[in-house]
Amino acid sequence: MEHSITLVVNGVQVSRRVAARQHLVDFLREDLGLTGSHVGCEHGVCGACTVRVNGDIVRGCLMLAVQANGCRVDTIEGLSDSKELAGLQKAFHERNALQCGFCTPGMLMAAQDLILKNKKISREEIRAHISGNYCRCTGYQAIVDAIEEVINGQG
Ligand code: FES
Ligand code: FES
Repeated sequence: MEHSITLVVNGVQVSRRVAARQHLVDFLREDLGLTGSHVGCEHGVCGACTVRVNGDIVRGCLMLAVQANGCRVDTIEGLSDSKELAGLQKAFHERNALQCGFCTPGMLMAAQDLILKNKKISREEIRAHISGNYCRCTGYQAIVDAIEEVINGQG
């Protein structure tokens, strides 16, 4: 069964018909061509599919597209184009906080969520916040370094 949905994705209103069972991340990737959000486990474990819905980060593989009807959805593409992630992207690049890059969009979305909370936090708290985002390559050290640098640099 299909449903009509209207939502705002990266600031642009879109209306589509979607299958009731289609997940948000698949809708973003396949119907809208926003392939920056990745699909890893499809079970809510790895965090590769992290997007922002009405200001909160969610697992795009656990939310149905129909549940996003009427919502504002922001993806890695939107946050990157708006330069919201510029500081984090620079820090990740300079500290080699990515290798294959598969986890990176979700990691940046999760890290930015933390940075928006705008308070100083410890490395342990950074690790706890990104514990739902798996990285198979880096060992996390450089990722935590990069996030810590941005948080400490925001005054
Ligand atoms: S693909 Fe969604 S959490 Fe892994
Ligand atoms: S850089 Fe490869 S999974 Fe994180």
